[in-house]
Amino acid sequence: MKDIHDLFIHKLQLMHDGEKQIIRALPKLIDAVSSEKLKKALQDHLKETEEQARRLESILEELGKKPSRVTCEVMESLLNETEKYMQIDYETSVKDAALINCAQHVEHFEIASYGILKSLAKLFKYERILGLLEKSSKEEGNANKKLTEIAEGTVFSRGVNIKAKKHAA
Ligand SMILES: [Fe+2]
Repeated sequence: MKDIHDLFIHKLQLMHDGEKQIIRALPKLIDAVSSEKLKKALQDHLKETEEQARRLESILEELGKKPSRVTCEVMESLLNETEKYMQIDYETSVKDAALINCAQHVEHFEIASYGILKSLAKLFKYERILGLLEKSSKEEGNANKKLTEIAEGTVFSRGVNIKAKKHAA
């Protein structure tokens, strides 16, 4: 019967696949958004994501495991949804707002996923592994915060807000 350590390995492998999916999806998302601040934030996050995938590879190696061919279906579905929003003919800033929301769904899922990984690393007293997971988890939290700042600071105030007020009146 599989135990809690098997679950830890499985979740690490799923997370690794999830990060790899994001690495493949981000260039298209960067092209699809219009706000320069948003493009820059996503580009920065792409670099971070590459490092996050490497950290997971190093963690799996330390545990004598390899990234396997598991597919993170939650990530696949979140990215499919993102792809659908890219195709909708929204006004520029509305599309940015919709895509920020998609990116935040991904970030929230990642924050939850790193959450359980950190708890399990603590349980097994894997100090170095915990440190690496904490770094990635912090990056996801910051990326999520940055997306909210961009949404509220620029994207929403440019056009979207004015129209929203009109609808509210
Ligand atoms: Fe990530």
